[in-house]
Amino acid sequence: MTQIDYNHLAQKAVESKKFAHPPYSNFHVGAALLTESGEIYSGCNVENSSFGLTICAERVAVFKAYSEGIRKFKAIAVASDDQNFCPPCGACRQVLMDLCGDIDFIMVDGKMQTKVFKLSELLPYAFGDENLKSK
Ligand code: THU
Repeated sequence: MTQIDYNHLAQKAVESKKFAHPPYSNFHVGAALLTESGEIYSGCNVENSSFGLTICAERVAVFKAYSEGIRKFKAIAVASDDQNFCPPCGACRQVLMDLCGDIDFIMVDGKMQTKVFKLSELLPYAFGDENLKSK
C-alpha cells in the first residue's frame, strides 16, 4: 500500500504551534488541515480563563476553513509539545468526522515522525447526520 507523503502538512502543523495561546496548560498545539483543492488551513489551541471555553487547534483549523466556504477535505496533521504522538480529544474527533468526513489524521511527534490514521479508526461507529434522519 502506498502511503501519501504528509511531510509538508506535518511541517505546517509544527509551524502553527507558534501562534498557540495556552497560558493555563502551557501545552502548545498546531494543526494543518488540507483541503481537497490542496490549500492548507492552519490552527492552534486558544485557551480561555473560563477553561471550558478553550478551543483545540483542530477545531480552529476546521472552523476557519468552513467560515470561508470550504467543505471538502483530505487530511489534518497535528503537532504538540508532547514528544510522543498526540491523539485528538473526543470533541475534536466528533467535530472532524461531522464536518470533514473520514479524512486522514496525521499525528506528528517531536522527531517529525508521522503516524497516519483514518478518522474512523479514531472514532468508530460515529454519530452523524444519518442518525437524525429517522426522526
Ligand atoms: N489540545 C489541542 O489543541 N488539541 C489536541 O488534540 C489535544 C489538546 C489543547 C487543548 C488545551 O489548550 C491543551 O491542548 C491542553 O489540553
